Amino acid sequence: MGKHIAALAPEKQQTLALQERDTPEPGPNEILVEVKALAFNPVDFYQRDFGFPPVPAYPAVFGSDVAGIVTKRGSNVNGGSPPPGSRVVAFASSFYQNGNPNYGAFQRYVLAQAEGVTALPENISFEQGASLPLAVLTALTAYTTVGIPLSTRHTPEDKQAIIIWGAASSVGTLAVQSAKSLGFTVYATASAKNHSYIKELGADHVFDYSDSNVAASMIEQIKKDGVKMQTAHVVCTGGLEPTLEILKATKDSSVPAKVSHSPLLPEDHPTLDNTEIKFNFPSMDKEVRDAHIADSFQGWLADGLKAGTVVPSPPVEVVGQGFESVNKALDAVKAGVSCKKIAISI
Ligand SMILES: NC(=O)c1ccc[n+]([C@@H]2O[C@H](COP(=O)([O-])OP(=O)(O)OC[C@H]3O[C@@H](n4cnc5c(N)ncnc54)[C@H](OP(=O)(O)O)[C@@H]3O)[C@@H](O)[C@H]2O)c1
Repeated sequence: MGKHIAALAPEKQQTLALQERDTPEPGPNEILVEVKALAFNPVDFYQRDFGFPPVPAYPAVFGSDVAGIVTKRGSNVNGGSPPPGSRVVAFASSFYQNGNPNYGAFQRYVLAQAEGVTALPENISFEQGASLPLAVLTALTAYTTVGIPLSTRHTPEDKQAIIIWGAASSVGTLAVQSAKSLGFTVYATASAKNHSYIKELGADHVFDYSDSNVAASMIEQIKKDGVKMQTAHVVCTGGLEPTLEILKATKDSSVPAKVSHSPLLPEDHPTLDNTEIKFNFPSMDKEVRDAHIADSFQGWLADGLKAGTVVPSPPVEVVGQGFESVNKALDAVKAGVSCKKIAISI
């Protein structure tokens, strides 16, 4: 067994430190990936700085977003998945592995479940590829969380519309791209400087969430368009109240509305009649979750990248090279980003 370098958390609320770890063998349904680029999410600095979401054991390896090269496939990994030597994007996270550090992204060799590994076309850099996994999974889980299958393909005649509150976030940009592929008319919010980019991704109308009339403007546009508004993805904190205000004014009161909420949902959150509001999270049933991860990465993402209908978003900012840059990258995410994904090259 070989060894490799990892940026690991030695104890709760400590700066990540570079240490060698034993390189694991992939289990039957797993793929060992050599990491070439990493991208970073708010949950990563939360785990480093607050130990939240709870970290089952230390030392721990955090992170979810990887692009790299397939080193080895487990014995049950089928021939359809990328063979050794292939460039791939991988959802590499210890969230569903009881915190086992072999599955955390921030290390040179990481294990990923085969369902979460997607071929990376040559025209997309490792850094752009690494920007995708957790954001793609979160954007797509927002539908299944409220019972909308990923196979949904609304036609223009269906006039089905969706609110995406926080479209310039990493998750939000993928929410816009996926909403278009499911056939929704998209009403999005973002800061004014990001409107043209969000429209390029496919949003039909974009509104500035800092405008005090934002809800009224959205209501006016939705009524004018005569669409059916009963679906929303609240991607960013602060979006639930205005989203419910818009739904209240625009939805058919006899039809149930569905709201996926990506930030943690406080117990005393606002509600609306005949409206289901759910925290956006994959199923805790492993079989259901694995099938959803396969639909997301081997289905939607693989097909979209190959066809060029899905593009990495938002733009990537590479802030360093090598695992010694992981803390700096996490600090950059913590400082706040606008329509940008923080990444490092390895
Ligand atoms: N449930 C899950 O499993 C899960 C998974 C991943 C992420 N999340 C959560 O999803 C959220 C988004 O994550 P992320 O990584 O995509 O975030 P991010 O890229 O770091 O978000 C930054 C963006 O948020 C936008 N924003 C900030 N406040 C806003 C507001 N009040 N209204 C609308 N937009 C606002 C900003 O837009 P402008 O630049 O246009 O101002 C900025 O571009 C976070 O709360 C994260 O914790 C949940």
